[in-house]
Amino acid sequence: MKKFTIKTFGCQMNKDDSERISGLLSGAGYAPSDGDGDADVIIFNTCCVRQNADDRLYGQAAALKQLKAARPDVLIAIGGCLAQTDGETVLKRLPHVDLVFGTHNVARLPELIAAAASQKHSVLEILEGSDSFTSDLPAVRKHPWHAWLPITVGCDNFCTYCIVPYARGREKSRPIEKLIAHCRELAEEGVKEVTLLGQNVNSYGRDLYGGPRFAELLAAVSAVEGLDRIRFTTSHPKDLTEQVIDIVAGSANVCPHFHLPLQSGSDRVLERMRRQYTAEGYLEIVDSIRGKVADAAITTDIMVGFPGETEEDFQATLDVVRAARFDQAFTFIYSHRPGTAASKYRCQVTAAAAGERFERLIEEQNRNSLVNNQRLVGANMPVFVEGRSKKDNYRLAGRTPSNKLVHLKGGDELIGHTLDVWMREAFTWFLIGETAETA
Ligand code: SAH
Ligand code: SF4
Ligand code: F3S
Repeated sequence: MKKFTIKTFGCQMNKDDSERISGLLSGAGYAPSDGDGDADVIIFNTCCVRQNADDRLYGQAAALKQLKAARPDVLIAIGGCLAQTDGETVLKRLPHVDLVFGTHNVARLPELIAAAASQKHSVLEILEGSDSFTSDLPAVRKHPWHAWLPITVGCDNFCTYCIVPYARGREKSRPIEKLIAHCRELAEEGVKEVTLLGQNVNSYGRDLYGGPRFAELLAAVSAVEGLDRIRFTTSHPKDLTEQVIDIVAGSANVCPHFHLPLQSGSDRVLERMRRQYTAEGYLEIVDSIRGKVADAAITTDIMVGFPGETEEDFQATLDVVRAARFDQAFTFIYSHRPGTAASKYRCQVTAAAAGERFERLIEEQNRNSLVNNQRLVGANMPVFVEGRSKKDNYRLAGRTPSNKLVHLKGGDELIGHTLDVWMREAFTWFLIGETAETA
């Protein structure tokens, strides 16, 4: 039996695509390998959202040159967002690669692998779009209890720094009946947690129904029997409605967690980013969530060093960070992406200034994360145990409904179960908990 391995970079969309690739290849008679050593097919599912994602791919794929020289029959394939946006360059820089395929070509992977295996030269196939959804393909999921469920693919927002609309194409929603039927199947298979995915989940349905239908979809998914936890990401602040907040507030199985990327707290920068909200508008949403949804966690993405960002702009970002009291922030230094509108903007911020702002931002946010976690000490919360802690193998790792990471002692038999956990100690990134079973 031929064996494959997949290396996944980037966001949850890519994680889902990799589970579909596993499903397709398993259906085509392949088995997962233990690593590169015994693999017949090595697939990279790439990301290109920032320069360092590109660099990681080129580093790792270049390192396979020796393996390819020693075992010429090994087939190396590169798919995902970097393949979609820059496939020709990938082939030029990595001539030992056999196949480059785009984000709209996943369904054809078994045929493409067969074509590449039977030819001496490399195969490149990149479609500009597709009418089908990869989520219609079979999946082999990493965890039996969790499923990703893309509700839209692509993005129409064209934030000026962002390459995703070029890598994923125009926003396309999967019909509501299909999604609900899919959720029912997942529940029957024993899935407990579903994460609804979209670059902007709040605009779900606009292309299909003439207006957004995310609130309706969320309510319908919540009514599917057997799903304990429904998560969704990402919420673009410009489209998050009170109706959605009300549904989260009123549904026991929709998790009280909003990932609401801020990007910047300066209105001037937000405008140049084409984000279509103001700092004030953003904070109003935060207030509404905190007012309506008990124990809600709000996480965010923030960027520093956007072209033209001044110290004053950066101070405005710190002001919003202080006011919003985020539970967690994913922080980035602006990265120039060729082809995007911002790549032509002048007044680039120096690397030194961006690096220094980045450090100050992290320091400010770490205080929030710690204080928010400390507030939970003494509380009892349901924790779904996901597996062993990555850092400390003696501990289990699980998540609260609000997506807080909790470590606790216990055996493997608790994995996949929800426990009542007392929060005992808080750190910046996680809490330590205790249960009657594990105390
Ligand atoms: N659709 C999501 C974002 C997807 S990309 C949204 O609109 O919020 C994930 C994050 O990567 C973004 O929120 C942004 O903070 C960051 N990002 C995107 N392009 C970037 C760039 N060119 N440089 C640095 N960070 C970037
Ligand atoms: Fe990129 Fe903006 Fe679309 Fe998010 S909403 S994927 S940041 S263009
Ligand atoms: Fe995701 Fe990276 Fe593509 S963030 S959509 S994998 S460019």
